Amino acid sequence: MLENLKPQAPDALLALIKAYADDPSPDKIDLGVGVYRTGQGDTPVFEAIKRAEQKLVDTQDTKAYLGPEGDMGFVNALKPYIFGDNPTMGGRIQGMQTPGGTGAVRLAVALAQRAGVTRLLMGTPSWPNHAQILNDIDLEMIGFGHADDDGTANVDAVLEAIAQAGSEDAILLHGSCHNPTGIDYTHDQWDTIAQAIADKGIFPIIDCAYQGLGQGMDEDAYGLRRILDTVPEAFVAYSCDKNFGMYRDRVGAFYALAKDSDALDAIFSNANALARASWSMPPDHGGSAVRVILRDPELTKLWLDELSTMRDRMRQVRTMLADAGTAGSVNLVPLGSQNGLFAVLPVSKEQVQQLRDDHAIYMAGSGRINIAGLHAGNIDKFVQALADVTQ
Ligand code: LMR
Repeated sequence: MLENLKPQAPDALLALIKAYADDPSPDKIDLGVGVYRTGQGDTPVFEAIKRAEQKLVDTQDTKAYLGPEGDMGFVNALKPYIFGDNPTMGGRIQGMQTPGGTGAVRLAVALAQRAGVTRLLMGTPSWPNHAQILNDIDLEMIGFGHADDDGTANVDAVLEAIAQAGSEDAILLHGSCHNPTGIDYTHDQWDTIAQAIADKGIFPIIDCAYQGLGQGMDEDAYGLRRILDTVPEAFVAYSCDKNFGMYRDRVGAFYALAKDSDALDAIFSNANALARASWSMPPDHGGSAVRVILRDPELTKLWLDELSTMRDRMRQVRTMLADAGTAGSVNLVPLGSQNGLFAVLPVSKEQVQQLRDDHAIYMAGSGRINIAGLHAGNIDKFVQALADVTQ
C-alpha cells in the first residue's frame, strides 16, 4: 500500500532553515523563514514571556485536559487587542484556541467549506501554505494579483475579483504585514474593500498573523475591524507566534463573527468537532503564557514595549534599504513604506540561487526576504550582492 505514496517536495520555506544551518560560511545571511531577529541576529524569548512562564511554573496546579476550544481565558483576553473597544460586538464574536495561526487558517477554511463555501478568492502571491491548505481540503482557489509593480496594493484587482464573485465564494485577506509582499491596503482602500464585500455578500476570512509588527497594534487592526463593522459574518485566523515570539509553541486562535449570538452555538459546535477530529485540543503552554501576560498590566506593558522595539527595528532596516535606493536593477525605495517582516524582490529563481551560491545569502525562491535578517552589520553586503547578481 505504502508504495502508493509518491515522494513530495519538502516545504521550500522550511527547507531553507536546514540549508542555512548547514552552510559553514562565517558571514552567511538568513533572509528565509519568518522569524524576528535582533540587530545581533538572535531570536530571543520575550522577557514578558519568560516572566509569565515563571509564574506558570510557580502556580500551575494541573495539566489535565481542557477541551477542543483550549484556554478560553487566553482567547478572551486577546479580543480587545484584535477587535478594539467593542470586543464582542454585542455578543456576536466568539473564539477558540488553535495550534498556531496555521491551525486557525485550516479551521477557518474547513468550516467555511462545511458551511457551503465552494471557492476562495485570494490575492497572489500569498503565504505558500495558504494554497497548500486549500489544496489539501479540496477547496478551489481563485487568484487575483495582490500588488502592482510600483510596490503598492492593486486595489482594482481585488475589487474586480469581488465583483466577479458568486454567492458561495469566500475571500481570504491578510490583516496586515502582507506575507510575502509587505504591501498592505491603505485605510481608504480597506473602506472600499469592506463595502464591496458587504454589497456582494461574499464571506470574508481574515488572516491576522502579524498584528503589531507593521505600524502598531491598533493601526494593524484597521482593515480587520473595518470589515467586521461592515459585514454580517466573518472568520478571523489569529497568530501570536510572531507578536509574542512564541513560534514553536504554536499559539493561535480562531474567531467567528456571526449575525447574532444564537448563531455562534452552531458555528462553534462544528468548529469543536473539526478541531477534535484534527488535533483534539491545542497545545496549552503558549496560550497560558499569553493569558498570564494579558491579565497582568505590568507584563502587558513590558510585552507591548518589546513588540514596539521589534517594530522600530524593522522600520529602521526598511529605511536603510530605501536609503540605499537601487541595487543593480532592484529598486529598494518602496520597501521603506511597506510593513512587517517581508518584502518580495523582483529577482529570478536563478538570481536567488546565485545569491546563495556566491554570497551565502538565503532567501525564498519567490524572491521573498525576511527584513529582520538584515542589520547595520550585513546590509551593505546584502545590497552589494543584490547589485552583483542583478547587474
Ligand atoms: C513564514 O512565512 O516564513 C512563516 O509564516 C513561517 C511559516 O510557517 O511558513
